[in-house]
Amino acid sequence: MNFMKLAKERYSVRKFTDKKVEQEKLDLILEAGRIAPTGANNQPQKIYVLQSKEALAKINANCKCIFGAQTVLMIVNDRDREWKNPLEPGVSAGVEDVSIVAAHMMLEAWELGIGSCWVNFFSPSAVKKAFDLPQNEEVVLLLPIGYADKLSRPSAMHKKSREMEDMVTVL
Ligand SMILES: Cc1cc2nc3c(=O)[nH]c(=O)nc-3n(C[C@H](O)[C@H](O)[C@H](O)COP(=O)(O)O)c2cc1C
Repeated sequence: MNFMKLAKERYSVRKFTDKKVEQEKLDLILEAGRIAPTGANNQPQKIYVLQSKEALAKINANCKCIFGAQTVLMIVNDRDREWKNPLEPGVSAGVEDVSIVAAHMMLEAWELGIGSCWVNFFSPSAVKKAFDLPQNEEVVLLLPIGYADKLSRPSAMHKKSREMEDMVTVL
């Protein structure tokens, strides 16, 4: 699909069917994340594919925004791997890195007919604890993915983009 068409068409899916994402499609989605650019190509992303009954129960107990998805990508920044800006202590690229990784996956998913919703409405520390993640890993976002239910529609927030002149300043 033409990129602009895809970017305009995609919307956050908040009602999924039970149909499982096929392994070939999941592999392509993960591949899109694998090849995303990252700061200094450090690739600090770690992606947990939550599909087991136990993992889905755990994530649903910690987040109200899973929307019935049978696959949830838990996208984590490995703080030991992220690029650290030598010009400013405390500034690092990890959250930017995993965000572009997630964006690649979200758009590839749509290309394959798979919906998703970017979710950060959860407690990262509680989720980290629930999955017993190592100290260096921070959970940045969740991406529930799957087939959109026939009743799924874009929310009122979709397409409410600011005007160009409000967003862009040419200096
Ligand atoms: C950083 C970020 C965090 C988000 N967190 C949530 C969330 O926790 N729950 C949710 O339902 N949608 C969440 N969304 C989806 C946005 O609400 C949605 O992308 C936005 O309203 C535009 O709608 P659209 O994606 O349908 O075009 C998030 C999106 C982003 C980029």
